[in-house]
Amino acid sequence: MEVVNVELGARRYPIYVGAGCLRELGTKLAETRCGAGVAVVTNSTVADLYLDRALASLRDAAFEPIAIQIPDGEEHKNLAWLAFVYDKLIDAGVERSGAVIALGGGVVGDLAGFAAATYLRGIPCVQVPTTLLAQVDSAIGGKTGINHVAGKNLIGAFAQPRFVLADVETLRTLPRRELIAGLAEVVKYGIILDPGLFALIENQLSAVQHLERDLLARIVRMCCTLKALVVGEDETESGYRAVLNFGHTIAHGLESLTEYKQYLHGEAVAIGMVAAARISRRLGFCPDADYQRIRKLLERCGLPTEVPADLRGEPLALALRSDKKARGGLINFVCLEAIGKTRFERLTCDEIVKHL
Ligand code: NAD
Ligand code: GLY
Repeated sequence: MEVVNVELGARRYPIYVGAGCLRELGTKLAETRCGAGVAVVTNSTVADLYLDRALASLRDAAFEPIAIQIPDGEEHKNLAWLAFVYDKLIDAGVERSGAVIALGGGVVGDLAGFAAATYLRGIPCVQVPTTLLAQVDSAIGGKTGINHVAGKNLIGAFAQPRFVLADVETLRTLPRRELIAGLAEVVKYGIILDPGLFALIENQLSAVQHLERDLLARIVRMCCTLKALVVGEDETESGYRAVLNFGHTIAHGLESLTEYKQYLHGEAVAIGMVAAARISRRLGFCPDADYQRIRKLLERCGLPTEVPADLRGEPLALALRSDKKARGGLINFVCLEAIGKTRFERLTCDEIVKHL
């Protein structure tokens, strides 16, 4: 098991990455000196696969865990299911000395993380991510929250976990489409921050797709290191952390236009990243060769790379205009100067759409 630290002073915390490390959950939690009454929040799918293992590890370390299950699906990342989790925590008498353990993908991680951040004015949270997206992105960095009918992630808090435990073995049961969507976020780290990681995926894509254990653990660790560096520099996204939004402006536009039904998040991000690289090339920042490498790698991953013809132009511009991150009609767009080098540009929605 390898450790990557998120350096946030008194709130510094470790990310443990390994194959089979779920069995260490109890031991690692015991090291935080947390009380015995803890709650594992998970969903029905992940519960069938990993809940027993998580509970056994906790009991072996003298914890008295309860399990709280929500249904599977983004549509349950809402106030009603958050209230359900609060009810269960209160019924079980989980105290401030206890902890909430989020066992699952980003949906469980965001909702359970927000429950922990707000229950009894905040109790410790541990993230045990079981999707590739959650292991390399959502479990790290303390963004927690739920959706509102008016939009995604509109209610939430920054609350860092006590630790993150990413067992890459859990990725073996992940549906193929979810794995490939998560790969888009892995490629993103290479594009924005690490040409070596990008080249590693180019060269070893087939081994990654076959879930070669050591390679997978190495790649997840590399991504965690990169995210930890960004979060350590700008915890609450007052500036630099927005680099992680590369490809996300267009991705969010596409997701909202298609009512979150057509694309998994990573798939929309893949399209958004190719579009952002193309815009960067058209603006004269990014060499054609880098643009082509990005497009080819994402295609080889099996990800979509083009904005569908019927959504280009005005429909997409309209969706971008209602982006919650737009300020005075301008979007702080993450452009590319080369693989591994980004720059921020304030662009209007029309400029973005025109250069697609
Ligand atoms: P998800 O949590 O819905 O998981 C995807 C699917 O995989 C679900 O059906 C889930 O039950 C299943 N699953 C999870 N682990 C499994 C496993 N090991 N084996 C088999 N099936 C498994 O989706 P996600 O992509 O992990 O996360 C998306 C969510 O993350 C969104 O709500 C998004 O807003 C959020 N997010 C948050 C951040 C952040 O910084 N907090 C960053 C990115 C995304
Ligand atoms: N997923 C982007 C962030 O954590 O800032």
